[in-house]
Amino acid sequence: MIKIAPSILAADFAELGAAVRAAEAGGADYIHVDVMDGHFVPNITIGPPVVAALRQATTLPLDVHLMIEAPERYLADFARAGASILTVHVETCPHLHRTVQAIRDLGVRPGVTLNPATSLESVREILPYVTQVLVMTVNPGFGGQSYIPTMTAKVARLAAMIATLGPEADGVDIEVDGGIDETTVGAVVAAGANVLVAGTSIFRHEGGMTAGIRSLRAAAEAAQRNRSA
Ligand code: DX5
Ligand code: ZN
Repeated sequence: MIKIAPSILAADFAELGAAVRAAEAGGADYIHVDVMDGHFVPNITIGPPVVAALRQATTLPLDVHLMIEAPERYLADFARAGASILTVHVETCPHLHRTVQAIRDLGVRPGVTLNPATSLESVREILPYVTQVLVMTVNPGFGGQSYIPTMTAKVARLAAMIATLGPEADGVDIEVDGGIDETTVGAVVAAGANVLVAGTSIFRHEGGMTAGIRSLRAAAEAAQRNRSA
């Protein structure tokens, strides 16, 4: 099933409550929250107190993307703040299985993500333990970047890897993040992605946010129909 996850990185940070309420009213499935520490990525954004405030503003699942070094230090704080999904970068986790188990033990859905140049082999062994794999389709750190075209084939290889594992990795979602808009979403959904993060193309859509969500979903669902046809 296609899920649309607006990234609040592209919203007005002085009006975050209004932004997530509008995203929920506009038909979003998740709210994507980008946490950056100025170390793993060059940018600094938000932490657990803001996640806790967002938790009060929406009933949608909060899909929290941790672009931070040593994320295990903060898992409990983000769980307490109300994160529904916690996604960690494989590049930051020398003990990835332990970190994923720690997320599960907190009652949160675990996700893993990898940078554009990181090999899919780095997630193969963790697939049975996670609910989603996020394929970064830009280098993490900033919104508004261009989709990296070779990531479409990477998503297709990941979909094949998940299919090969059969029941062991049944139901693992493939999320994509970065440069997703009406022009790029079709190919990546046809390749196997089903959770679509979008900041710029939703919050800065010329027809408004609801139009942005609707047109992204329409393009994605059309591509998914062609895929299964
Ligand atoms: C980038 C973030 C993304 C970002 C996507 O590091 O992980 O979630 O907000 O922004 P757009 O959709 O504008 O590329
Ligand atoms: Zn993100």
